[in-house]
Amino acid sequence: MSTWANLGLQDSASPLMEQLIFFHDHALLILVMITVLVGYLMIMLFFNSYINRFLLHGQLIEMIWTILPAIILLFIAMPSLRLLYLLDEINEPSITLKSIGHQWYWSYEYSDFNNIEFDSYMIPTNELANDGFRLLDVDNRIILPMNSQIRILVTAADVIHSWTIPALGVKVDGTPGRLNQTNFFINRPGLFYGQCSEICGANHSFMPIVIESVPVNYFIKWISNSVNS
Ligand code: CUA
Repeated sequence: MSTWANLGLQDSASPLMEQLIFFHDHALLILVMITVLVGYLMIMLFFNSYINRFLLHGQLIEMIWTILPAIILLFIAMPSLRLLYLLDEINEPSITLKSIGHQWYWSYEYSDFNNIEFDSYMIPTNELANDGFRLLDVDNRIILPMNSQIRILVTAADVIHSWTIPALGVKVDGTPGRLNQTNFFINRPGLFYGQCSEICGANHSFMPIVIESVPVNYFIKWISNSVNS
């Protein structure tokens, strides 16, 4: 999760987020190069003495500074499209989780396992444990197995919400009357925090998401206990 003074992206917990970070760094590098070049040119303009009386046009430089930016943009567009299609790819998921946005909490359904379902509310500050995270911890976490392909179905019951988990590179809108799909692969155990990121009303800030990523055998133990109880 993000902690104090962390201005960049969170460490990735999935291959897709890793690729998103690579793309971010790549785009930022190009951005810095352009900014430095344009900044240098603008500063140098101040020290320019107009000494060439016959300079009226320059076909060559016009060609260069028209075509060069177009080529630079291609270097951003191509990896961007690659990522876009990569994010949309569904790789034979072994588990499907359905998350439904409500005003103002999430509810979840494990449709593969006898339709286990539960609500997930934020823990209010006055009920928070000493090691709890304010505005971020929930009463019922989503348990998911690590190293497995997971499909998420997102919808909403009232207004538009957004199921967003930065460390996994997931951000899907939950829209009433629609069923959106995404998938991810968690490559390490741990707790991954997220928040609703579609302005959904007065308590928009208070419907966080917590995923508990555990080894597969732990998950099977948890799910079989839940089915039997
Ligand atoms: Cu739900 Cu914002």
